Amino acid sequence: MLGGRSALVLLLALGPAACGPSSGNAARGKKIFVACAACHGPDAGGNHKLGAPNIAGLPQWYVEGQLQQFLNGHRGTAAADTTGRLMAAAVAPLLKNEDDVASAAAYVASLPARRPAPTLPPGDTVQGKVDYQACSTCHGAEGKGKYDVPPVTTQADWYLLAELHKYKNSWRGTNEGDLQASRMRAVSIPLTEKQMRDVVAYIGTLARR
Ligand code: HEC
Ligand code: HEC
Repeated sequence: MLGGRSALVLLLALGPAACGPSSGNAARGKKIFVACAACHGPDAGGNHKLGAPNIAGLPQWYVEGQLQQFLNGHRGTAAADTTGRLMAAAVAPLLKNEDDVASAAAYVASLPARRPAPTLPPGDTVQGKVDYQACSTCHGAEGKGKYDVPPVTTQADWYLLAELHKYKNSWRGTNEGDLQASRMRAVSIPLTEKQMRDVVAYIGTLARR
């Protein structure tokens, strides 16, 4: 039987990440998410018309990191980036502290991952597979990402293409302090429109998860 003392020892062993307020509380996040659902949808599956991506099941560390980027002005500030600006303006009043951010992220991460239906004209997936070699070092051969790289297999094709454009156009990834996004920007700059579309088409053939 697990006595009070061993339960305490267990909690201490798990550390603050498992029990402290900064680890986020998905139940609290669910309440915050009511406002997010206006754009991302009640199941977080996204809304193409608004440019709001499917975020259901993205890793908590990534969602948390991106929310911080929107809040601290690293993402969603370029004048022409209307969808990024929409998101940045929306979350500023909704997420007041780190616990709000962590809780919203914990809830989003707890939702079942899905992939929205394709919207783009079919690309050349054979060429896309060749071009994807340059992506696989970081995103993995199966697109599932790793500890500091997000998965790409649950994103809609239109969103993947839009973000590649944003990195290439320097709407995302220009802040020197944001090493991760600047790496992605450097990768996107040499890509042609056709390469982007082919690579996105190829990602669409990878298993969702
Ligand atoms: C007014 C509409 C709107 C609201 C409300 C909104 N978002 Fe967004 N969100 C967007 C749009 C549009 C984007 C795409 C921005 C881009 O392309 O850079 C986005 C992007 C994101 C991303 C980045 C996903 C990725 O793969 O990088 C996350 C995470 C996110 N939103 C979470 C939230 C959370 C959590 C809330 C509520 C606290 C919220 N959003 C509220 C419109 C909204
Ligand atoms: C050097 C490592 C690296 C390589 C190579 C790389 N990526 Fe990324 N990618 C990342 C990281 C890290 C992020 C998250 C960046 C951020 O925080 O904005 C990312 C983000 C993205 C995003 C945005 C995801 C989202 O949810 O908003 C897309 C789309 C993407 N990568 C596609 C690609 C494609 C396609 C390639 C190959 C042409 C590629 N990446 C190559 C590291 C890489």
